[in-house]
Amino acid sequence: MSDLRTRYLGLTLKNPIVHSASPLSESLATMRKLEDAGCSAIVMHSLFEEQIQNESRQLDHYLSYGAQSFAEALSYFPEAEDYRVGPDEYLDRISRAKKAMEIPIIGSLNGVSRGGWVEHARLMQDAGADAIELNIYMIPTDPAMTGPEVEQMYVDTLSAVRQEVTIPLAVKVGPYFSAMANMARRFKDAGADGLVLFNRFYQPDFDLESLEVVPHLTLSTSWEMRLPLRWVAILHGRVDVDFAITSGVHSAEDVIKGVMAGAKATMMTSAVLQSGMGHVKTVLRDVEAWMERNEYVSIEQMCGSMSQKNVAEPSAFERANYMKMLHSWQSDPTGFLP
Ligand SMILES: Cc1cc2nc3c(=O)[nH]c(=O)nc-3n(C[C@H](O)[C@H](O)[C@H](O)COP(=O)(O)O)c2cc1C
Repeated sequence: MSDLRTRYLGLTLKNPIVHSASPLSESLATMRKLEDAGCSAIVMHSLFEEQIQNESRQLDHYLSYGAQSFAEALSYFPEAEDYRVGPDEYLDRISRAKKAMEIPIIGSLNGVSRGGWVEHARLMQDAGADAIELNIYMIPTDPAMTGPEVEQMYVDTLSAVRQEVTIPLAVKVGPYFSAMANMARRFKDAGADGLVLFNRFYQPDFDLESLEVVPHLTLSTSWEMRLPLRWVAILHGRVDVDFAITSGVHSAEDVIKGVMAGAKATMMTSAVLQSGMGHVKTVLRDVEAWMERNEYVSIEQMCGSMSQKNVAEPSAFERANYMKMLHSWQSDPTGFLP
């Protein structure tokens, strides 16, 4: 029997498949089903800065960034309105889940600023959360805001949350930084124990009948995993945090690739929403079968084995590979070229 255990954020997980934040953690019944299906930890759906601010009527920080960016933040978060749960009920969900379940429960806090709302990280810790994932999701639309200012906001938000809690803290971010490796190091320096790569930025669509902008949530495909896979492979062994991959983890192959890149956890939401919770069981069985076929005894042994530091051709992750790939295009199977 292969040993599927992994250590993520100081927690021993029975396997690398973690259920990332989704509406499935809105009910204890579905959380227990995820545990029964084999998930090794659950990240709760997020508690949003807007929800807390709205409740306490303290919109000071957002207002200082202009009404426009606040309205925009709201419009990008259809889920925030759908999750009709106030902060108290959220905390209650964590403590009930902790009492009823064995696997670690990770609280999720979503915000982009310093402010009173970050106290909720401590309240999550008090409610029994094993760790916290800080989901920073921001669309900097103000032309006056510079890249360094945006980066500093991320770091300041993380630092503020770090000051509130002693439990492990992961930060979930998107891929749109000019210097991802440097940001990863800054997150580590600001107190992150883990980095969850990458947030999916849901793109709004136009409805041409009603001429309205509509939120458009599509589930991921395995293809989307390429981006976090590459970055975890690049950063593994360079920045001393635990990496988790989110976006595009659907199959056993995806889990194995993620671990080989250097991820301690591979997170799954779309696949479970698409195929049901039983999918986790199937994937775990397939991971184990693959390991046995290929004579790997443990996940730990596999972790990082295909990271940039460990592969025979490290340039495969870099610019050199880009040129090589473009020049490798020989034929034109599509028949589009003259
Ligand atoms: C319906 C839905 C709700 C989500 N809610 C949250 C959330 O509250 N907080 C969060 O950090 N991510 C949220 N996510 C993002 C997922 O946790 C995950 O990062 C993303 O779907 C990419 O992973 P996947 O390819 O496995 O779906 C949500 C995703 C979906 C599809």
